This record gives sequence, structure tokens and C-alpha cells, in this order.
Amino acid sequence: MTTLDVAIIGGGMITYDLLLPSVYHLQRTGYVNNIKVCALDSSPLKALKNSSDIRDAFPGQDFEAFPPVTEPADKKFPDLYKEVLAGMQPRQLTIVAMPDQHHYQVVMEALKYNQHILCVKPLVLRYEQAAEIEKTAHEKGLFVGVEYHKRFDRRSLIAKRGCELKQFGEFVMGEAKLIEPYYYRSSNFQNWFTCDKTDPFVYIGCHYVDLVYFITGLKPVSISVSGIKGRFPNGNEGYMWAQGRVRFENGAILSVIDGLGYPDQAAGSNDQSLQMFFEGDGKTGMIKHNDQFRGVEHSYLEGIGCGGSHFNYVSPDFYKLIPWEGSGYKPVGYGFDSVAASLTMACQIEDAVKKLSEADSLKKRKEIIREVDKKGIIATPANSFINELVVEAARISILTDGENVDIVYGAKPHVRLRQRT
Ligand SMILES: NC(=O)c1ccc[n+]([C@@H]2O[C@H](COP(=O)([O-])OP(=O)(O)OC[C@H]3O[C@@H](n4cnc5c(N)ncnc54)[C@H](O)[C@@H]3O)[C@@H](O)[C@H]2O)c1
Repeated sequence: MTTLDVAIIGGGMITYDLLLPSVYHLQRTGYVNNIKVCALDSSPLKALKNSSDIRDAFPGQDFEAFPPVTEPADKKFPDLYKEVLAGMQPRQLTIVAMPDQHHYQVVMEALKYNQHILCVKPLVLRYEQAAEIEKTAHEKGLFVGVEYHKRFDRRSLIAKRGCELKQFGEFVMGEAKLIEPYYYRSSNFQNWFTCDKTDPFVYIGCHYVDLVYFITGLKPVSISVSGIKGRFPNGNEGYMWAQGRVRFENGAILSVIDGLGYPDQAAGSNDQSLQMFFEGDGKTGMIKHNDQFRGVEHSYLEGIGCGGSHFNYVSPDFYKLIPWEGSGYKPVGYGFDSVAASLTMACQIEDAVKKLSEADSLKKRKEIIREVDKKGIIATPANSFINELVVEAARISILTDGENVDIVYGAKPHVRLRQRT
């Protein structure tokens, strides 16, 4: 298999918790060559290098830090990622893991230097930007995956297959919930999670809208979101809670509640679930996922659980480091599966074209990318653009206190505030 160099742009929570460990494992299993990580300053890079969790799991593995960890933590390097991307060989992989509002510029820069891309969700904040990325990447035969990892949870894949086999009937009414911990309010969230920028529906509710679309294939057509505001410890005002009502193209309705308020003392680490009802012929069908309590409870001697708690619901399904036959520990779960799916897809694409002329290679790469789009398992700009429309519509709705916003498909998909009659 062809190996790829990987540059991760952004060294924060998601890089620490999921991306770097996953890439390290793919390096020692033969998919990844060199690894670079670029952050705004040296402090998150130091944390990644000094983490005993990561060191113990991946003994002897390392990455090249941009800026070097010897730079003072207060010195900022906002444009260094451009140099990192310019220094990559063509058709390697860039992982975009910066705050949402920077995704567009970094993805476009990576495409400029002919990189395949894996971007954390949301790809971008506007539909037009997603369409531009899709067009540019396709013209150059570059693969872009979006890291909607809930799609790789086995229960989602089982539900998707069941829907395809018509085991449940027609989706008619659903309820989803994702409540993040209260302690998020005292984290870096207080600096950017302000009313004008985002809200709990856009940040986490979108996962379940994407999941219902993924499972059923139904597109969302209108959205209403109402929020409840509160103050962060630093005085900034944000939406602490949000409730969204999403109507799908067949008339089905999904209600979604989200918040930054799951009790720190509770068994968590957050609360999340999905229930969907379906109409059949003279009977109904149902899918019910408890995504919080997955049947594993731990009670620790010390308060090492989330929020300092002793008793925890532990998810063996998302991401955990576990013993394996090799050295250290290996990452398992749908978080790892999701990263691996995009990264190995980029390797497969390069493998398929390595003996071809430039013209044949481009043609073949475009063909494979269209197959991935059509398959609809890995989220791509072409098959997950509904998410950008949902985000755009939700922001308009919450800022107008729950007005209905329609999503209009066709040659030029767009969102439109519904006029009251
Ligand atoms: N469930 C999920 O899919 C999931 C979960 C968490 C985060 N995310 C997404 O991941 C992204 C990052 O979130 P996070 O929690 O890791 O954020 P974070 O604030 O912990 O980290 C952001 C990182 O970006 C870096 N950065 C900022 N500006 C930069 C620049 N100009 N050049 C290089 N690096 C720069 C910072 O140094 C920091 O390391 C967000 O888009 C978020 O929505 C997705």
C-alpha cells in the first residue's frame, strides 16, 4: 500500500483525543510516512509531545512540530500552516483541525498545494464554500473526507442497512439529544461560543441531523431553532441550550435538544440518544439508540472521571486505547474507524494510480472520488452538503428566536427565511 505524509493543522482537543493517536496507529500499521503538526503556538504541541498517555501508547513515535516546541508559548504563528502546506509533496494528506471559522481558508490552501484532505466537522459554515471546495477538489482529482464519526458507529451502519432493506417503514417522527458537560462553560468555549458565532444546535445537534440523513437518505427541508442564553464565567453571553425542529423532505419531523449543561457530578460523560419512529402497513417501526450508557460502568478510586467524577458510564464504542499484540496500546472505536476510512481511502486512490500517466491518473482519481460520493459512507462535500445548509438555516432561525427557515434544493441550493402570511 502507498504510504502518505500527513500534516495535521491544529493541535487542540480533537488532535489530542483522536487524530494524532489514530494517525500514529496508521503509521505503525503501514499507511503513514512522516507526520507534521502545526498549531498557532507551541503550547498545544508541547502538550502532545509530553502526554504520557500518547507516549505510552505509541512508544518511539514522534512528529515534527510547527512552530518548534522551543518557541515561547506566547509567540503566535497564524500563517505558518501555509509554509507547512507549501513544503508538502503533492497528493499527500492534510488533516484540518482548527476552529470552524478557519476551515475554509485552510482547506482551500491545502487544495492549492494539491493535498488530499480530511477535515473535522463541520467542513465549512456556508453552502457556497462547500460547493467551491467540491468543485476545486474534483477538478484536481483530490479526495476530501469530512470527519462525521457518528456515521461509523456500528449502530448507525446497522440502522442504515435496515432502512435500505425497508425493515422499519417510512421515517415519521424522531427525537435526538446531545448535552455536553457543564464544565465546558469554563473552558476555552467562553471565548468563542458566543451568541453571534454559534450555538449548541449548530455545534452538536448537527451530528444527529446528519445521522438521520445518513440512515434514511432523507434531506432536511426546513428548520426552526430556539435558544436559551446564559453567561460564561468571563461574562460573554452564549446560547447554553437550544431546541431544534427539523422537517424532512417526506414531511417527517425530528426534534433535537442540545446544551452545555450535563451535570459534572453525573456519570456522563455527556448525554446523548436518538429515537426514530416509522410508519408501516398497519404497524409501526422504531430505532432507539442510547448513545450515552453503552453498558459499561466504572467506579474509580480517585476522581479521574470526566468533571472529576468517580463513577462513570464508559463508552467502549467511540475511542479508547486498549492493549493489543503490538507495542503500547492501540486506538479502537468509531472515532478511529472514521479517521482510518478517509486516510486509507487517500492511500487506496494513490495506490490505484501509481502506474498511470498523469492524464489517466486524474481520470481514475475522479472516478474513485465519485464512487465514494455515491456510496455515502464517508462524508464528502458532494454527499454531506446538507449539513452546511442546515447550519446556515439554524443560525438564521436561532437569531430570529425560532422563525422557520426553509432549505431550497435545485440547481443552486440555498436557505430562505419563511415569510409569515
Ligand atoms: N465530534 C466532533 O466531530 C468534534 C469534536 C471536537 C472538535 N471538533 C472540531 O474540531 C475543530 C477543532 O476543535 P478543538 O476542540 O480541537 O479546538 P481547540 O480550540 O482545542 O484547538 C484548536 C487548535 O487550532 C489551532 N490553531 C488556531 N489557529 C491556528 C492557525 N492560524 N494555525 C495553526 N493552528 C491554529 C490552535 O493552536 C489549537 O491547537 C473544530 O472545528 C471543532 O468543531 C469536532
